[in-house]
Amino acid sequence: MKLVVTGASGFLGREVCLAALRRGHEVLALGGSRAPTIPGVAQARAFDLCSEAALEALLLEEFPQAVVHCAALPTSETCLADPARAKALNSEVPKKLAQLCFHLGAKLVHLSTDTVFDGVVGNYQPTDQPSPLNLYGETKAAAEVEVLRYGREHASVLRTSPIIGNSVGGDRGLHERLFASWKEGKPTALFTDEIRQPVEVSNLADVTIELCERSNLSGLYHWAGTDAMSRHEIGVRIARHFGLNTDALLRPISRAEVASAAARPRDLSLRLHPLAGKLRTQAQSFEDQLAQLRVPRGCEDWYEKETGRKVVRRLEKGIDY
Ligand SMILES: NC(=O)c1ccc[n+]([C@@H]2O[C@H](COP(=O)([O-])OP(=O)(O)OC[C@H]3O[C@@H](n4cnc5c(N)ncnc54)[C@H](OP(=O)(O)O)[C@@H]3O)[C@@H](O)[C@H]2O)c1
Repeated sequence: MKLVVTGASGFLGREVCLAALRRGHEVLALGGSRAPTIPGVAQARAFDLCSEAALEALLLEEFPQAVVHCAALPTSETCLADPARAKALNSEVPKKLAQLCFHLGAKLVHLSTDTVFDGVVGNYQPTDQPSPLNLYGETKAAAEVEVLRYGREHASVLRTSPIIGNSVGGDRGLHERLFASWKEGKPTALFTDEIRQPVEVSNLADVTIELCERSNLSGLYHWAGTDAMSRHEIGVRIARHFGLNTDALLRPISRAEVASAAARPRDLSLRLHPLAGKLRTQAQSFEDQLAQLRVPRGCEDWYEKETGRKVVRRLEKGIDY
């Protein structure tokens, strides 16, 4: 199958390209400002998705059988810094892609987020009504409506949770951001009463490709790991996994201690049905996700001093993370 992957210079998009190659597909990898460099991907370029005419010309020229759309401004901070760009990239581009894919008869897999919910009740099903608390959630919720309007038959919207895993720059995965602040001598304050359900990046990537392959799976789905837990527990389990001193590195806080916390979703746990059970790819426990994490590049000396353990680098999937 010929696949176009957007956001391929980003955290998830890169893994989606690798998953597609592993499963024998041909990939055109699109970055935004950066041309992706991914082992085994022959066709890669920088491309501004907000240029509608260029996007239309590209897809008509390439005529892919599927598009996996990972490009986004994926945090509330980046969206607030440039609201016009957030609306264009997070809402208008998916709408245009859904229209184009409809005309081409191509499958569209659009990445969305747990942040479309307000987090009041948790354990959300795909049929629950979005009620975003911030601009990021609003732009992603608007995109879901447009994608499903044009592509109910052939598009999948995949809502997902905070993504963990090893990134090439060593700065995108959750454990990598924790390590960066620990290395600077800054213990991290994490909420004991904010619930999230992390997913590992290559597992999520496999799911996006399986959705491309399965023409009978369209509509709105959830995917994450199997374990929902507090942000603090996530941090503790990461630190313990690496043999680090949790008391010194992590500070538990509650939402009641932080005035701005009321504006943050409290519980964004997701129910994975009906997608779980329909796919060959299985949802992973947090333990299985932890087993894949590596000490981030640049943190080796600090880590060895802290734990007395030696960091041994090895190639994974041909990549030196
Ligand atoms: N990360 C998470 O924890 C998480 C959680 C839930 C859902 N999601 C969703 O998962 C998807 C992937 O997130 P991610 O964390 O992989 O994002 P990311 O690492 O920040 O990557 C964003 C990608 O978008 C590209 N991009 C930005 N502006 C563009 C433009 N105008 N034209 C074309 N490409 C553009 C960037 O390209 P350049 O960098 O080359 O400019 C980059 O490749 C997003 O839809 C996000 O909403 C993420």
